[in-house]
Amino acid sequence: MPDSENPATPVTFPPAFVWGAATSAYQIEGAVREDGRTPSIWDTFSHTPGKTVGGDHGDIAVDHYHRYREDVAMMADLGLGAYRFSVSWSRVQPTGRGPAVQKGLDFYRRLVDELLSKGIKPAVTLYHWDLPQELEDAGGWPERDTAYRFAEYAQIVGEALGDRAEQWMTLNEPWCSAFLGYASGVHAPGRTDPAASLRAAHHLNLAHGLGASALRSVMPARNQVAIALNSATVRPLSQNPADLAAARKIDDLANGVFHGPILHGAYPESLYAATSDLTDWDYVLDGDLTLINQPLDALGLNYYTPALVSAADAAARAPRADGHGASDHSPWPAAGDVAFHQTPGDRTEMGWTIDPTGLHELIMRYTREAPGLPLYITENGAAYDDKIDSDGRVHDPERVSYLHGHLSAVRRAITDGADVRGYFLWSLLDNFEWAYGYGKRFGAVYVDYATLQRTPKSSALWYGKAARTGALPP
Ligand code: NOJ
Repeated sequence: MPDSENPATPVTFPPAFVWGAATSAYQIEGAVREDGRTPSIWDTFSHTPGKTVGGDHGDIAVDHYHRYREDVAMMADLGLGAYRFSVSWSRVQPTGRGPAVQKGLDFYRRLVDELLSKGIKPAVTLYHWDLPQELEDAGGWPERDTAYRFAEYAQIVGEALGDRAEQWMTLNEPWCSAFLGYASGVHAPGRTDPAASLRAAHHLNLAHGLGASALRSVMPARNQVAIALNSATVRPLSQNPADLAAARKIDDLANGVFHGPILHGAYPESLYAATSDLTDWDYVLDGDLTLINQPLDALGLNYYTPALVSAADAAARAPRADGHGASDHSPWPAAGDVAFHQTPGDRTEMGWTIDPTGLHELIMRYTREAPGLPLYITENGAAYDDKIDSDGRVHDPERVSYLHGHLSAVRRAITDGADVRGYFLWSLLDNFEWAYGYGKRFGAVYVDYATLQRTPKSSALWYGKAARTGALPP
């Protein structure tokens, strides 16, 4: 890391670098029954006993739906340049099809206008995992029709906000929607059907392609269309052929299954071969790959920690740890012959090893794989067990050090030739961390869940200074 190699050298960024923070609708909004919003799969799942830690749910979350002005003011005070948020599909289109609800759209208009009035660039994610329950009841992502419903929804939101928001992402981390939602079942809708999870992955890809075209058909040409993928840095435990093959398989199931069709118009042949016992991919219809392979204006990368894998017979060397929650079912279809290992090093409260070199590697990989495509780090951050101190402040030096390390890795990638245009810290605020509930705090801003009071942590002040000066404070 340049900083630890030479702490006296300030890490500075190009002047146009975008300093943002990210959130998602279900994790922060609350107001789940207001203004015509209907349940999404996350409402149903989180209210199903045993699905989230402590039975936590997003009914109130951090009440951002009512406090968005305060939250935007806080971002402005910190000095952030951009804010990535997601739109709740069932707030806008309660049945997942048909006409939009004006009040739902109005909320996002007000939010975007508030951001613009403070000079903060909105970055809109259309889908951050909260499928309208009615669409799940009709079959969910394993059904082809869901992709067409998504395109209709994308067009509605594009028409409503395209004149004021310039940065767009179709989907957030479709890997999680497909494989945590339909294979391991630790995320909504909680199904455990590996074959269905691969169908879901294809239809999410199709949704991305159709959604990207729908957005372009209604938005000004200056707007940027992207996708946020949790692309993985997959490392083999050793250079043994079996471990290398295991790493390739996980790379296909983590990266190739999405980047293949989205960036290159094809699924990897090795993915078809690895999954042939589960599916013959007959739902990939003629023309689908062209629809999915839409030209993009940018690629979003979400990064937290690398994966370390080996052939399963090496499993005895280290405990299984794929970092995606407890389930008897694997999120990796057709990968029973692969073992996951804990990468050595310090870990965050999620148990995820802190390794900024994995971010540098990832950026350089997509710089090679998608030459000319601008990159954004659309998520990066860490959970820690933060507490309000006796001085009324929240001191989180571990998060500052995490951010420093990862932003330095981004800077190093830029020096090495990568076109990284911006970084979105996950997350602006402590929030509902899916199956883990409110116990895992990713925010730069602390939220007292009893009073919903917001207190910027020392990391928020540190990050704000970086955003204002374009350089990492020591
Ligand atoms: C990725 C997801 O997009 C976000 O919703 C989640 O909270 C973070 N990772 C942390 O797990």
